Amino acid sequence: MRILVTAGPTHEPLDDVRFLANASSGRLGFAVAAAAMALGHRTVLVCGPTPLPPPFGPETVRVETAASMREACLAAFPAVDAVIMTAAVADWRPAQRHQGKLKKDAGPPDLPLVRTADILSELSSRREHQILVGFALEAADGEVNARQKLTGKGLDLVVLDSPAAIGAERSDFVLLGPGGWRNHYRSISKEILAHRLVSFVANARLLTGR
Ligand code: CTP
Repeated sequence: MRILVTAGPTHEPLDDVRFLANASSGRLGFAVAAAAMALGHRTVLVCGPTPLPPPFGPETVRVETAASMREACLAAFPAVDAVIMTAAVADWRPAQRHQGKLKKDAGPPDLPLVRTADILSELSSRREHQILVGFALEAADGEVNARQKLTGKGLDLVVLDSPAAIGAERSDFVLLGPGGWRNHYRSISKEILAHRLVSFVANARLLTGR
């Protein structure tokens, strides 16, 4: 298969030196891309800014913002069979990027925010045959919210995780699929989860015939 994997956070600039971001390390997405390569799939990795070294092997596109991640994903999408969207895409960006550096003597800046595009929903609306896997990072009501993402974004599989997974080596994950299907992994390493996930995606393709 040809698999598109996204990883890491996005940075949404406020001025030339400051940005809004989140705590994603990219580690899980890198593990998924490495697993996809190890299992013999042609892999494109689109990753946001992170100090971790990306895995050796995948065609890698480095991006900064949600807008540039969207562009890279839309460009790769027609040629892939599956998308595993682990990236922690920022939902909001500053409405305006100030040139240069905002000075503190000017007082606290007005910080109006605007929504970024929901990349996964957009890919879902353009889908031809691709299997789509999303992540749901939930602090509360995990399975209910994750199932809403599964149906709302038109996905084949959602991986539920929690804030405790950020930067951690191992964590609890629940895989959720259509028809109430679920698989709970307790304290599993991100590397092993990544292998399971890529195998599920390959099987899902056989099952759905996509
Ligand atoms: N996602 C995306 N584009 C966005 C935001 C999220 O493609 N602008 C993807 C993520 O990569 C993930 C899934 O959608 O696979 C769910 O992301 P999450 O942040 O958990 O949910 P949101 O849809 O952003 O909703 P909320 O933050 O309200 O939980």
